[in-house]
Amino acid sequence: QKAQLIVDEDFEIGQVNDRLFGSFVEHLGRCVYTGLYEPGHPTADANGFRRDVIDLVRELGATTIRYPGGNFVSGYRWEDGVGPKGGRPRRLDEAWHSTETNQFGLHEMATWLDTVGGNELMEAVNLGTRGLEDALDLLEYANIPGGTALSEARRANGADEPFNIRMWCLGNEMDGPWQMGHKSAEDYGTLAASVARGMRQIDPDLELVVCGSSAHNMPTFGSWEETVLTKAYDLVDFVSCHAYYEPHDGDMASFLASGVDMDGFIKDVAALIAASKARLKSKHDVYISFDEWNVWYQSAEASRNPEGIGNWPVAPHLLEDVYSVADAVVFGDLMITLLKNADHVRSASLAQLVNVIAPIMTEPGGPAWRQTTFYPFSTVARLAKGGTVLEPKLESTQVETGQYGSVDTVDSVAVRGADGSISVFAVNRSLDEAAEFEVSLPESLSDLGSRTLTASTLHDDDIHTRNTLESQNRVVPKTNTTAKFDPARRTVNITLPPVSWTAIH
Ligand code: AHR
Repeated sequence: QKAQLIVDEDFEIGQVNDRLFGSFVEHLGRCVYTGLYEPGHPTADANGFRRDVIDLVRELGATTIRYPGGNFVSGYRWEDGVGPKGGRPRRLDEAWHSTETNQFGLHEMATWLDTVGGNELMEAVNLGTRGLEDALDLLEYANIPGGTALSEARRANGADEPFNIRMWCLGNEMDGPWQMGHKSAEDYGTLAASVARGMRQIDPDLELVVCGSSAHNMPTFGSWEETVLTKAYDLVDFVSCHAYYEPHDGDMASFLASGVDMDGFIKDVAALIAASKARLKSKHDVYISFDEWNVWYQSAEASRNPEGIGNWPVAPHLLEDVYSVADAVVFGDLMITLLKNADHVRSASLAQLVNVIAPIMTEPGGPAWRQTTFYPFSTVARLAKGGTVLEPKLESTQVETGQYGSVDTVDSVAVRGADGSISVFAVNRSLDEAAEFEVSLPESLSDLGSRTLTASTLHDDDIHTRNTLESQNRVVPKTNTTAKFDPARRTVNITLPPVSWTAIH
């Protein structure tokens, strides 16, 4: 297998928005409780925040955090999670058949984000069991400096300054029949438009995300976006996309090409946005917030809700997928896909952050460690933040897949860093063959003789290898010693092992 990428600085796709490195904290399983928050843990600070997790989140490079759900938000009463902890009610969380203790809420989330280092909060409002009035109450509570009942309640609860939340999700996956308060596109579009209008009466400059389809293959995909945007186009700034991938019937070749589906999904939604803009003769631009994406073994036992009228556990082990090398390679390809579409995708949230389909795992009372998927995320965040995505001029041999036909063996994208460096991210989707990959560097790149090359690859001969509590560092990226830099030819040549993900800098 072989491929060539021509890096051309004259053709830019767009700036790498910091929000592309967002993540997601839902009240689900152990994401919050014994994930972020575990009073009494040996590393916990005075707020009960696990410092070992905070260190890993910093290393991961996650930015904006979407909160508090997910399916959870469609039954959530935000006011349960504020005020003295002793007075907060325990409630049923119907979405995940669990008990929500409400010991962690909006104030704790905002404080945790400040502790991590000024990360942005992206808040979702409940448009499942609730509507306009509660969304306005939450906005008043969070963002009004003072002088009203709800803003003064926030101040009395310890936050003198408003949270100043800029980005708001108008509900979650309202197209999904599993969603509490699921609605037709007509009904949701009407509600989302009225909530957006009301929220803008409080603050016209909010950035609002309207629910798009919860998957590319939803039966309502396309018509949902069209109906909702007809009602809400000028009132919102983003349409959400959600996508999760897993192998079906052991078809690893198709699984490794999941990026092809994500790319098509983004292009389809971008076309639907453009069509709405044209039809409505609007001057306003709407972008994509890809606010849930990951590999997720949805059909596996780990994703089964607890059952039984008397069985509502607190922080159960739910969706605790343990990711393999192959999963991380697919994950890395999804990151390449988000970068390649940086002109349309201005925000993205890796679902989720800790324990629940997450790059970071914890043991209650014990250690925290990095899953295989941690590495593509932290590497891209480190090298691409603040940079500019260059249009990929890529030629590659092909591999056959059952689901997508023949697809490029190598998928790749280049990013010019703010410091003038070039980073190239590349995936080899072949199950059994290495790929010889050549990167041609642009004429415009100066001082080639004095530049240095580093290349690291995530790969294991056993593609099912995982990091676990017992073996936390079994999978780590390793220096790719095949990388050769030829300043005279302006090329980098490297061998990409089968089922691998590589970062070249
Ligand atoms: O991230 C897990 C779940 O996936 C979210 O709660 C929901 O929005 C999606 O279906």
